Amino acid sequence: MKIAVVGATGMVGEVMLKVLEERNFPITELLLVASERSVGKKMTFKNKEYTVIGLADAVAARPQIAIFSAGGDTSLEWAPKFAEVGTTVVDNSSAWRMDPTKKLVVPEINAQELTKDDKIIANPNCSTIQMVMALAPLHKAYQMKRVVVSTYQSVSGTGVKAVKQLENEIAGIEGEMAYPYPIGKNALPHCDVFMENGYTKEEMKLAREPQKIFNDSTFSVTATAVRIPTAGGHSESVNVEFENDFDLSDVRNMLSETPGVVLQDNTETNTYPMPIYAHDKDEVFVGRLRRDETQPNTLNMWIVADNLRKGAATNTIQIAEYLLENDLV
Ligand SMILES: NC(=O)c1ccc[n+]([C@@H]2O[C@H](COP(=O)([O-])OP(=O)(O)OC[C@H]3O[C@@H](n4cnc5c(N)ncnc54)[C@H](OP(=O)(O)O)[C@@H]3O)[C@@H](O)[C@H]2O)c1
Repeated sequence: MKIAVVGATGMVGEVMLKVLEERNFPITELLLVASERSVGKKMTFKNKEYTVIGLADAVAARPQIAIFSAGGDTSLEWAPKFAEVGTTVVDNSSAWRMDPTKKLVVPEINAQELTKDDKIIANPNCSTIQMVMALAPLHKAYQMKRVVVSTYQSVSGTGVKAVKQLENEIAGIEGEMAYPYPIGKNALPHCDVFMENGYTKEEMKLAREPQKIFNDSTFSVTATAVRIPTAGGHSESVNVEFENDFDLSDVRNMLSETPGVVLQDNTETNTYPMPIYAHDKDEVFVGRLRRDETQPNTLNMWIVADNLRKGAATNTIQIAEYLLENDLV
């Protein structure tokens, strides 16, 4: 298994390498790929030193799988070039997510849609992945009608530049800004760029991606995405209205039995999900389950996950594992 990690020097790329190592992904040859700025740089994986190469050299090496986390423009330009030489690309950017010819995959939910012909596969947005992981069993049982989500997203979701901005602010150093305002001691209702309809791109990803993942357009999602000064881990307040009524203890049982989901829900012991618990974990944590008392069949919940793990690297590598296990590469 020859595998290329494109964007290996970035925040997601670094976690990709960690997860590949932890899960003992069967690699025979590893290609570490980044921009021209990093070509020649040395990196280690499983105590072995590797030299970072450029994209053209990586295509020429014809890997079986290329996992991409190098931004949308790089994916738009280079994923088709890999696909042309027979490589299966799993892409973390937003470039291909809503392309009707590409699958948008959360393995626990819809990996069975994948075939040998899928040469570019999209990984959903980090905030979407953790939300649909918790909603999947409930949608199946009660049929979602409408979801209202507000996010509390960490600076690591923006990349290295934003983490540096927060670190600089804490240390009192003036440096490069990833955001238009300070992020320390602040909350920015502004994740990704604004669109013509007044929503941000991040909010529209949350609104559009779930229907594609569930292959169901009968429910709607509206979102407000907020950046807060946490180092890692996204949190979400989710209000979900179902077609059918539910029993809160059934909801708890269902979530606690869902693979990849951990229930942390006990107000007597102050047990609820928080970014500091989710850090470096692959699971999605759910708690603060309560009935919305203002309208029927409606649930409030709080969902937290490590955006660099299940929100990015872990989900991508699970897709790659599925491809291998099912002989699809
Ligand atoms: N952070 C998250 O929570 C998260 C979650 C899901 C998806 N994503 C997506 O994953 C991607 C990377 O995010 P990140 O947070 O890891 O960003 P990052 O820390 O800024 O890293 C970007 C990576 O892409 C490489 N790169 C940039 N331009 C390139 C080019 N023209 N050709 C080849 N490589 C290039 C960089 O290489 P150099 O070091 O050489 O510049 C670096 O390895 C983005 O598309 C992002 O939307 C991020």
